[in-house]
Amino acid sequence: MSRKKIALIGAGNIGGELAALIARKELGDVVLFDIPDKEGVAKGKALDLEQNGAVLGYDAKITGTSNWDDCAGADVVIITAGVPRKPGMSRDDLLSINLKIIRNVGENLKTKCPNAFVIVISNPLDAMVYELKKVTGFARERVVGMAGVLDAGRFQLFLAREAGVAVKDVRAMVLGGHGDTMVPVTSYCTIYGVPVTQTIAAEKLQAIVERTRNGGGEIVKLMGTSAFYAPASAAVVMAESFLKDQKRMVPAAAYLDGEYGYKDLYMGVPVVIGAKGVERVVNISLTGDEKAMLDKSATAVRELIEASKKL
Ligand SMILES: NC(=O)c1ccc[n+]([C@@H]2O[C@H](COP(=O)([O-])OP(=O)(O)OC[C@H]3O[C@@H](n4cnc5c(N)ncnc54)[C@H](O)[C@@H]3O)[C@@H](O)[C@H]2O)c1
Repeated sequence: MSRKKIALIGAGNIGGELAALIARKELGDVVLFDIPDKEGVAKGKALDLEQNGAVLGYDAKITGTSNWDDCAGADVVIITAGVPRKPGMSRDDLLSINLKIIRNVGENLKTKCPNAFVIVISNPLDAMVYELKKVTGFARERVVGMAGVLDAGRFQLFLAREAGVAVKDVRAMVLGGHGDTMVPVTSYCTIYGVPVTQTIAAEKLQAIVERTRNGGGEIVKLMGTSAFYAPASAAVVMAESFLKDQKRMVPAAAYLDGEYGYKDLYMGVPVVIGAKGVERVVNISLTGDEKAMLDKSATAVRELIEASKKL
């Protein structure tokens, strides 16, 4: 069996953390790609991480590059190329800058990594992953956006703190676009199978939902740039599920072709990720209020996609 190759497009904060996690988990060899101006950063991080392997004893080859040829034939591609938010910015403010970048990345992927499973992280997430699929023409099974695992993780943390229980026992679902309209679905949140609605009061739950929606902005305000540890881990959960055919069911931005009543749209829904990529979009029933919130989120995503078409 040949060693897996994982290309990370963007060697910034998330890219570096992705490389570190993938190497430690020995999921495959890593290529850290960035623009020529940042080639030194990509090469430096790669070397540092290979030396880290000598200390920790993991087996992974890590290469830094600005040459697309080095990404050729990757099994998995994770895209963080673009700019992150600064305090006061919404994810949507990044659209015009990151759209050009994602188009450029997509053109290169078409020829260099035609068989890869692609996970997009760059913001505004739903519009970026939609554009990536459009530019590459890849099948919908092979292009997915990471947001739900991260947003659910934030939701889980706040719920665990409120309930005074271990965070690993809390499971939560966040649907919709990766923005202020995301839908943390309280009816599906449990503490080891027990609905959180039985242990956390309604007004406390509502406050937690709001904090989750602003979870990214809270961190941007604190440190002047986007979160990177949890976003990287969330993408690795998805990559690992693909590489090991784990069939994990996670919330992720998937291409919808009628599911949940939406067509030609990327948005966060529960999906099963296995060796074939996004193998299934899982339909779950929602309350009237939850569906109304999801509709609102879908409208926000659609507006962003329409705006992209004009740029
Ligand atoms: N989906 C999510 O849940 C989520 C969470 C956090 C951050 N993000 C987004 O992820 C992106 C990356 O965040 P970060 O903190 O790593 O930013 P960063 O600035 O640290 O890294 C981005 C890197 O992309 C590189 N880049 C720019 N143009 C490129 C190109 N054409 N090809 C290859 N690389 C290119 C930059 O040089 C930079 O090194 C941002 O858009 C951020 O908003 C998404």
